Amino acid sequence: MVNMETVELLKKYNQVNLLNFYNRASDNVKEKLRKQISHIDFEQIIKLYENIKNNSKIENSIITPMKYIDKEKIPDEDKKKYEKIGNEAIQNGKLAVITMAGGQGTRLGHMGPKGTFILDEKNNKSLFQILCESLKNGNEKYRTTIPWYIMTSKENNDETEKYFAENNFFGYPKEKIKFFIQDELPVIDTKGNLMIGENGLIKEAANGHGGVFEAAEKNGIIEDMKKQNIEWIFIGGVDNPLIKMVDPIFMGICIDKKVLAGSKSIVKKDENEKVGIFCRKNNKPYVIEYTEISKEMAEKKDENNEFVYGEAHVLFNLFNIKSLENLSKEKLPYHAAFKKNSYMNEKGEIINPEEPNSYKFEAFLFDAFERLDDMVILRVKRDEEFAPVKNKDGEDSPDTSRKLYYNYLSKNK
Ligand code: UTP
Repeated sequence: MVNMETVELLKKYNQVNLLNFYNRASDNVKEKLRKQISHIDFEQIIKLYENIKNNSKIENSIITPMKYIDKEKIPDEDKKKYEKIGNEAIQNGKLAVITMAGGQGTRLGHMGPKGTFILDEKNNKSLFQILCESLKNGNEKYRTTIPWYIMTSKENNDETEKYFAENNFFGYPKEKIKFFIQDELPVIDTKGNLMIGENGLIKEAANGHGGVFEAAEKNGIIEDMKKQNIEWIFIGGVDNPLIKMVDPIFMGICIDKKVLAGSKSIVKKDENEKVGIFCRKNNKPYVIEYTEISKEMAEKKDENNEFVYGEAHVLFNLFNIKSLENLSKEKLPYHAAFKKNSYMNEKGEIINPEEPNSYKFEAFLFDAFERLDDMVILRVKRDEEFAPVKNKDGEDSPDTSRKLYYNYLSKNK
């Protein structure tokens, strides 16, 4: 039985419906549910729910454009200088990579972790294998072995680890790959009720890519990096086969400019593209979401006919170990994302919704930028570095990504 205290707690937060599920559950599930209830911060979840509609972060802030460096326009001499600095750092084993693979990939709807999705159908290569080979090329070129940390979620960790083991880690030195699990938060329905998942337990989901800093600290990843004298950490997603994780020019610029972080940008396609844009908020680096930017700002162009707010953030980030450590102690805000989540209904049936039905709470990695004084933004070319796999079809789908990827391969043989 749940004790009176728990009943009172559930009443206080309007979650008594959980008791219906609890009463029907097996002893084993009951015990796990009790544990879950005792660790969930109901106050936090209810506050997040109440705040869903009240999300403006830029009210009363001064927003100004962010300066960037265009990789294409760097004079040859500077390029050589940056490359030399970056080469040296990589060769000396100063670079590590974190691939964030804890997302649910709800839009793609692939069964299994997104990284296991076979993007390269010609060669039967998954996103994980493509990333792995790109890192292996880096290792070969710079005669090093880059430590590779893969962030997973409770939901997909076992499957991810199994997938790597079954594929012999795609030939990557096994001891240089470490998996770590990010935190999670309960998912709630549109009425604010916690949901029950297929296993009869409260449905929880990974807490967003912004969870990477805390998770890296909690799981001893930062410690592990320090032991290996790592200084720079490239942090990126799992769903872009063109992601360039080993880039000496990017690293060289960050080192030369003495910043503690850098991010690559690509120019937004048009004023309506749904991407976050780099800017400064009260003079700190910031990414303004497409939902927050005014039409006037989104359309504003400069004398060269370029967007004033045109540098899109696409999750290519380089952090110095010091900033990673500092950020791991910060609490980033949570945002509500409306997503499709399967659940168990009152009758015990599993429902797989066709449309988004629930809120998941996510911290965004780019919310960390305003905690930094400065950072380098390096504009790179979209067709060379960006081929995202987000949706099942249409824009940013396997079809569009594959096309861009094959195109890039044919030009860079
Ligand atoms: P997205 O924000 O595009 O989310 O993640 P997603 O989970 O892949 O897909 P949808 O929105 O459910 O369709 C961008 C990158 O951040 C990682 C993802 O795995 C992807 O590499 N991510 C996202 C995490 O590692 N953890 C999270 O909680 C969310």
